[in-house]
Amino acid sequence: MNTTASTEVHLEALQQAVNLAEIETLGRARLDQNALDYYVSGANDGHTLRANREDFARIRLRPRMLVDVSRVDTSTSVLGLPLGFPVGVAPSAFHGLAHPDAELATARAAAGLGSVMTLSTFSNTPIADVGQAAAGRFWFQLYLLGDRELSREIIARAGDSGARALVFTVDAPYLGRREANERHRFALPPHLSAPNVASRETLAGVETDTGSQLTNYFQNLVDKSFTWNDLDWLRAQTELPIILKGILTAEDAELAVQHGCHVWVSNHGGRQLDTAISAIGALPEIADAVAGRAEIYLDGGISRGTDVIKAVALGARAVFLGRPALWGLAAGGEDGVRRVLELLREEVRLALALSGKQNLGQVGPDLLRMETSPLHP
Ligand SMILES: Cc1cc2nc3c(=O)[nH]c(=O)nc-3n(C[C@H](O)[C@H](O)[C@H](O)COP(=O)(O)O)c2cc1C
Repeated sequence: MNTTASTEVHLEALQQAVNLAEIETLGRARLDQNALDYYVSGANDGHTLRANREDFARIRLRPRMLVDVSRVDTSTSVLGLPLGFPVGVAPSAFHGLAHPDAELATARAAAGLGSVMTLSTFSNTPIADVGQAAAGRFWFQLYLLGDRELSREIIARAGDSGARALVFTVDAPYLGRREANERHRFALPPHLSAPNVASRETLAGVETDTGSQLTNYFQNLVDKSFTWNDLDWLRAQTELPIILKGILTAEDAELAVQHGCHVWVSNHGGRQLDTAISAIGALPEIADAVAGRAEIYLDGGISRGTDVIKAVALGARAVFLGRPALWGLAAGGEDGVRRVLELLREEVRLALALSGKQNLGQVGPDLLRMETSPLHP
């Protein structure tokens, strides 16, 4: 089959996919072992990775009946940016492993649907190019580097490129141990680079004889000593709102608010500390602690519209997709990411309607019943 024909077949399969799981199957089939290992892996035994999904399923909905749902409004806003539905794209490194259009495809899809994309520090595409493709609908995710001068430059570049917020990832002073990547020595293919942080030579020069190239590279690059006391330094570097990504406790949420930051509840898709609590499990105590003083977002395990409204009911303003966006990207570039977002948008609409809600403002804790667990009877 020639390339054009194969692309057409693929686009048809994308349009026929009825849910995110089917797009995952399409995406997986397009990836080599190196990329697939990198995308699917969780840390160690994958307990937290699984818990992110399982804990959504343990929450049951209490739908109300005989409500006029002839019109359902899925819109919201994040930091003043209107969203067509409460779903954005989480930062993930190296979109070039999934598709040649890499982060540009993701940015265009998100912007086209009135969503928002978070661009990783470790993108394969320079910030400025993604900024253009995103048409104002992007946040920049920062890994703070040991080299403060370079960090400062990156932050400035993000602002100049139109990023609307700085998402500072706080759960990764070290990378969690993704054992498949260690075993198979995950490496970035030679045609890809990480232009925001390093020249191609620097990355290619990282030795891969032992373990994952990314881990070896990351270890030397990222600042492991940064604490709450240093947040003032970060604050002084940018006028952008700062969101702390990777918060899992009420204590840290309180500190985040005291430091003037917004809160992104996440365990990095189960890729950092294995057996850490699930994102949705962490949300209630965080929403209590924040008490409306800052915006709250969540990622980890979202695969259904009902997951989205459960997170909103527990206090999240929007949720973000990590792997599902990557599966869409692998399955069909911009079209694939668009299909993922469209499917989820329509699932959110239907979930609201069948719950007897006309808009997200009507979604609160009364929509939920938590299944009991031995730990939390
Ligand atoms: C392949 C991959 C790469 C990631 N890269 C980053 C990154 O560069 N920066 C970051 O803050 N989080 C990164 N994450 C974590 C995501 O932002 C997000 O927290 C997680 O994927 C959400 O879980 P989900 O995949 O179940 O949606 C990455 C996740 C994956 C799967």
